[in-house]
Amino acid sequence: MRPALNDNFSRLVPSYLFSEIAARQKVFSAAHPEVKIIRMGIGDVTRPLAPAVIEAMHRAVDDCARPETFHGYGPEHGYAFLRERIAQQDYAGLGIGPDEIFISDGAKSDLGNLVDLFDDRNVIGIPTPVYPVYVDTNLMRGRTIRYIDCTEADGFTGQIPDFPVDILYLCYPNNPTGAAISREKLSAWVDYAHANGSVIIYDSAYEAFIREPSLPHSIFEIEGAKECAIEVRSYSKTAGFTGIRCGYTVIPKELGPLGAMWERRQGCKFNGASYISQRGAAAIYTPEGRRQVRADIDAYLENAALIRSGLEAIGLHATGGENAPYIWARTPEGMDSWKFFDLCLEKAGVVITPGCGFGRGGEGYFRITAFNSRDNVCEAMQRLKAL
Ligand code: MLT
Repeated sequence: MRPALNDNFSRLVPSYLFSEIAARQKVFSAAHPEVKIIRMGIGDVTRPLAPAVIEAMHRAVDDCARPETFHGYGPEHGYAFLRERIAQQDYAGLGIGPDEIFISDGAKSDLGNLVDLFDDRNVIGIPTPVYPVYVDTNLMRGRTIRYIDCTEADGFTGQIPDFPVDILYLCYPNNPTGAAISREKLSAWVDYAHANGSVIIYDSAYEAFIREPSLPHSIFEIEGAKECAIEVRSYSKTAGFTGIRCGYTVIPKELGPLGAMWERRQGCKFNGASYISQRGAAAIYTPEGRRQVRADIDAYLENAALIRSGLEAIGLHATGGENAPYIWARTPEGMDSWKFFDLCLEKAGVVITPGCGFGRGGEGYFRITAFNSRDNVCEAMQRLKAL
C-alpha cells in the first residue's frame, strides 16, 4: 500500500472492548446454541421508547410526508425547538443559552470528535478505569496520556494529581464504576483545572440516574466551571435512544474560541441529527415525557439494586448501582477479569464486562449493567450464584 498509515493505531488494543465481547459471545453461541445467553455486558437499553417519544416521532414522520412540512438538511447544530428546551430545563438557572448547546448523534461521537479542537502536543489526563473511547481517540492522534488512578479508597473519583494536564476527562455518574461524585469533589477538580489551565471534558451521559438530591447533575453547577469545562450528554441511557441516536455538547461562551471552532468542525464534518430523532428528544421535555422516561430509569435502578445485593449476597465486593446503571465488583479470589468473563459466559451463559477493558485500573474487577428485563436480571443472579 502506497500511503503511509497512521501508525498510532498500533498503540491501540487490537479490538474495541465491546466488539471483543460480542465476538467471544458469538463464538460461544455458535458452539452452544442451546444456551440462552443473558447479556449484561454493553450498556444497551432494553425497554422500549417512551410513548411520548414514539408519538412525537410518528408526527415527525408525517411532517416529512407533506411538501409544506418536509425537512431536509436541518440546522447543523440542532433545531431551536430542542436547543431551547435543553437550555430551559436541563440547565435551568445555570445561565447556559441555546447557542452554547450543540445537538449531535450522541455522546460517543462527540467525545471522539472533540479531540479535533486541541493540539496533539497537549498532555491528556484520563482516569482509570474509564470508558475506553477517551483513551482510544487520543491514542489515535498520538497524544501523551497521563493516567489518574481511581480506586475504592477515593470512591472511584480519583486523587487530584500533583502533575498538570492540559485536557482532563471526567465522567460522573461513572462508567464503568457507577460511582457518583459529590459537589465538593467536583469543585476540587474544577479548582485543579483553573490552577493548571486545563480544560475538562465532562461526560454526563448518566446524569438522569442520579437520585441523591445533593449530587451535581451538571459540572456547570460548580462555580468557575464555565471557564474551564465542556459537558457532553446523551439521550441514549436517559431515554432509550441507543438506536435512535441523539445527544448534545455544551460549550460555554467563557471558553473563548472553542464554541466557534466546534461549529466550524461540525459544519464541515457532520450534517446534524435527524429531524425525527430531535422531535423524539424534544418530547422528553414534556410533562408526560418526563414522567415516562423517569419511570424507565426507575425500573433500571431497581434492577441495579437487585444486582448489587445479589452480588453481595454471594460474597462479592460490589459498588455503584445507586445513582448509575452500572455495578462494579471485584472478581472472586482475585481472578483476572477476562478469565472471569469467560467463566461467566461458559458456565452461566451470562455476559459481563471484564474490568480490564476499562484500563489498568479495572483489572480484577467486572461490570454488570442494569439494562435488562427484571426476569433476566433475576435469572442471571441465580446463575451467578450457582457458579
Ligand atoms: C457501555 O456499555 O459502556 C456503553 O453502552 C458504551 C457506550 O455508551 O458507547
